[in-house]
Amino acid sequence: MYNDNPTLEGLKKEIDESKQGEVFFQGEAANTADAGNKHFYIESYGCQMNFSDSEIVASILAESGYRPTRNMEESDLILINTCSIREKAEETVRKRLRIFDKVKESRPGTLVGVLGCMAERLKSKFLEQEKLVDLVVGPDAYRDLPALISTAEEGDKGINVFLSREETYADISPLRLDSNGVTAFISIMRGCDNMCSFCVVPFTRGRERSRNAFSIVAEATDLYEKGYREVTLLGQNVDSYKWENPETGAPVTFAQLLEMVAQVHPDLRVRFSTSHPKDITDEVLYTMARNENICKYIHLPVQSGNSRVLDLMNRTYSREWYMDKVRRIYEIMPDCAISSDIIAGFCTETEEEHAETLSMIEFAQYSMSYMFMYSERPGTLAERKFEDDIPEEIKKRRLQEIVRLQTATSLQHNQKDIGKTFKVLIEGDSKKSDQDFKGRNTQNKMLVFPKKSDLQPGDYCYVKVNEVTSATLIGEIVD
Ligand code: 5AD
Ligand code: SF4
Repeated sequence: MYNDNPTLEGLKKEIDESKQGEVFFQGEAANTADAGNKHFYIESYGCQMNFSDSEIVASILAESGYRPTRNMEESDLILINTCSIREKAEETVRKRLRIFDKVKESRPGTLVGVLGCMAERLKSKFLEQEKLVDLVVGPDAYRDLPALISTAEEGDKGINVFLSREETYADISPLRLDSNGVTAFISIMRGCDNMCSFCVVPFTRGRERSRNAFSIVAEATDLYEKGYREVTLLGQNVDSYKWENPETGAPVTFAQLLEMVAQVHPDLRVRFSTSHPKDITDEVLYTMARNENICKYIHLPVQSGNSRVLDLMNRTYSREWYMDKVRRIYEIMPDCAISSDIIAGFCTETEEEHAETLSMIEFAQYSMSYMFMYSERPGTLAERKFEDDIPEEIKKRRLQEIVRLQTATSLQHNQKDIGKTFKVLIEGDSKKSDQDFKGRNTQNKMLVFPKKSDLQPGDYCYVKVNEVTSATLIGEIVD
């Protein structure tokens, strides 16, 4: 869910690029229309965690009488949930703020708030330079929003970017925005302690903390009862999930949590993201293999295929160690799909080292990848320790080579599915035609197939694959 790489059009469009900046909502949110008179408008950027946070924000605002709107011109409160991961993401947000400025001019009294990762990073800049911003609220301070809005209404700036060691919003039931009523995200932890040298997340989202396991299971159960059939457990590094039951002192690991959620109902699919290769255990892999409803798909970012670069990135594994992990996954689950995040042109990367990233794509047989040019982020270890010395042109060319190889690898991966039949969870109409459904198989591949009248979104069906592209399987329902 990242949208700041201009060279990736095509491949990524099929995945989730379209969601960036998405204005909420449908579904559940529409039912809150009578909750009050004031309206809020929210745009979200960045990762799925951020989109999930917007649903927490919406829930908090609904409690204090705000109702959501898709139309920023009629809103009393314009919010932008921001991302800092690459420079491009921040630029996009700045452009949007200029547009909000115009709305504010034509509707004095409208409040504009910056939420999320940029809020934490750029609080003083927003308040001093970007005069139009009334609220700056970091990812751990959303409970404070109603109070901050009151402060801003009185003409002061509402600001809270305090990062918490405890906040998990465990008790807040997210207001499902832009919901298809079938698939939902559940945040299971916040923050990150990994300190990858390129990454700003530990600074913008703070220390890692895990959410109460019972509240996660309760949220999954509630979603199932409302008709949802797939949940994705979200965290920056889900495999390091660890929560201790305060009453018994018994720890719950990620593998145990997965099993608990899988037991909510056999018809509730469970996915998770993101895994750090160093933390995913055999216990997790066996738990996946044992439970039919835990999807056979792992997002296992490699970042680089070269051990020296991995060391500079502080990833704490080598090329060989990662390859062993991939072998282990395929050994335990031969049909599991693996995807990756890849960075082109990290500090000091040579052509030979870049070639090792290319060969890793072939070795791991990724079903797909999110691919980026390295973008230096202020405050990170890499910014302080290394020179961003790979020229833009070279980064671009390396990225293109990575994208080209990944596209070909995805196509081959999909071609192997021709003639196979998959169990598919129907998510809704396909993008191109309301005569066709779209839905995913266990490997997280999107299938498109002609509708059948007795089926609807939320139903499972079996689809035989007839043809493929690098991003989609095209088929027909079979009995
Ligand atoms: N430059 C480029 N890509 C980055 N990512 C994180 N930080 C940077 C950066 N500074 C990528 C990584 C990560 C994904 C979420 O974004 O691949 O896994
Ligand atoms: Fe962006 Fe990272 Fe923040 Fe997600 S956690 S919004 S990817 S900076």
